Amino acid sequence: MDCPHFDHHQTLGDAERYERYAELRACPVARSEASGGFWILSRHDDVLAAAEDWRTYSSADGVLAPPPAGRRARQVALEQDPPEHTVYRKLYAELLSRPRVRAIEGDIRANAAARLAALAEATAGGEPADFIAHVAAPVPIEALAILLGFDPDITAQLRDLTVAELARIHRPADEAAARPELTLMDLLRAQIDDRRDHPRDDFATLLVQQDLPPIGMLSFLVGAVIAGHETTLIAATNLAYQMGLDPALQSRLRAEPHLIPRAVDESLRHRPPVQNFVRTLTRDVEHHGVTMRAGDKVMLLFGSANRDPERWPGDPGPSHYDLDRHASDRDAGRHLAYGAGIHRCVGAFLAEVELHVLVEELVAYDLRLGHPDREPVFTPTTFGAFLTIDELPVILTPTDPEQD
Ligand code: HEM
Repeated sequence: MDCPHFDHHQTLGDAERYERYAELRACPVARSEASGGFWILSRHDDVLAAAEDWRTYSSADGVLAPPPAGRRARQVALEQDPPEHTVYRKLYAELLSRPRVRAIEGDIRANAAARLAALAEATAGGEPADFIAHVAAPVPIEALAILLGFDPDITAQLRDLTVAELARIHRPADEAAARPELTLMDLLRAQIDDRRDHPRDDFATLLVQQDLPPIGMLSFLVGAVIAGHETTLIAATNLAYQMGLDPALQSRLRAEPHLIPRAVDESLRHRPPVQNFVRTLTRDVEHHGVTMRAGDKVMLLFGSANRDPERWPGDPGPSHYDLDRHASDRDAGRHLAYGAGIHRCVGAFLAEVELHVLVEELVAYDLRLGHPDREPVFTPTTFGAFLTIDELPVILTPTDPEQD
């Protein structure tokens, strides 16, 4: 079987992307010469096995291809193997623990409700407005700020600087020209210094009391705001898009809110925000007759694994968003949107609470796509690892409770 060309930085139409993924799965170990060269694992079972085998598929040499230019240090946890990984992973697990997340659920709900109400008001005249700017972008970053113990008056700045940092990561060539006066690093460094001088009862203080190098503390905070912001923003956007495409889905979730967690999970399977991360082989591996050498890069293509018909056989196939998939397959949630193994997303519980709450509040409205005849373009961002759309114009109208 000839393997197709694949470059994760390339913008492809939806149909073309998923066709390419199907060709990669048929291959099934493909080689790309893009970004310095890497192998591609695209079948569900292959991606899962590699993600679970960190000793062979190491994260310590970075998970992005190519690695960000001029970068001095690896991202803690995400780009480490044990034993270093374990130290930071434990700290993330503390920050993102169920009790800490449950304690801020009310804040997340109040924020989501206020953002949605403002969007409904902005679109009351019939002009669409952007769901991302109004709702999907602010809700996750504000949840993280509360969790970390940052003062509410720096939240807007934190959000702006995170967006600027992501833009810089997306377009590293502009870095010198676009370097702002204050960066995300400066803001986070100031928080660390402040908690060192004025300890408080918050997570940022707990962080500075750990026996960690300053660069590790900074990387921890950068990781939290970046990993926790953009991923959830994309997930919320994809959900809203799906609901806009399918008014019957909206009515069903309104009538049967217990299906909301299922709706969120199916959206994460169908359109995982993180499409791929890369590993580096620590030894030679033979896979489906192909020999990959120690030191080679291997891409785990989560986006393809989640559409593998071997994993989700039957009707409708995995290219369909199907709320009833879980009813017939108890294990349908075993998608790879959060990865697997020791690096499986440590923020998954927070993401789920945010997304459940958001949809619970969203079903109080009728959501219409602003340009139903225009298909959004899903573009790779963050070094081709994420797949997102730039804006989602919608119109929100409060529903009449008698209507459904
Ligand atoms: C729907 C939203 C989210 C998705 C789809 C997602 C996806 C992922 C994936 C695929 C990984 C695995 C990386 C790997 O295998 O190399 C990961 C790891 C991680 N995620 Fe998430 N994530 C989400 C939300 C969050 C949130 C809200 C946080 C909060 C800070 C977060 C923090 C992290 C961290 C720190 C890691 C690294 C864990 C480790 O290496 O041990 N994520 N995420």
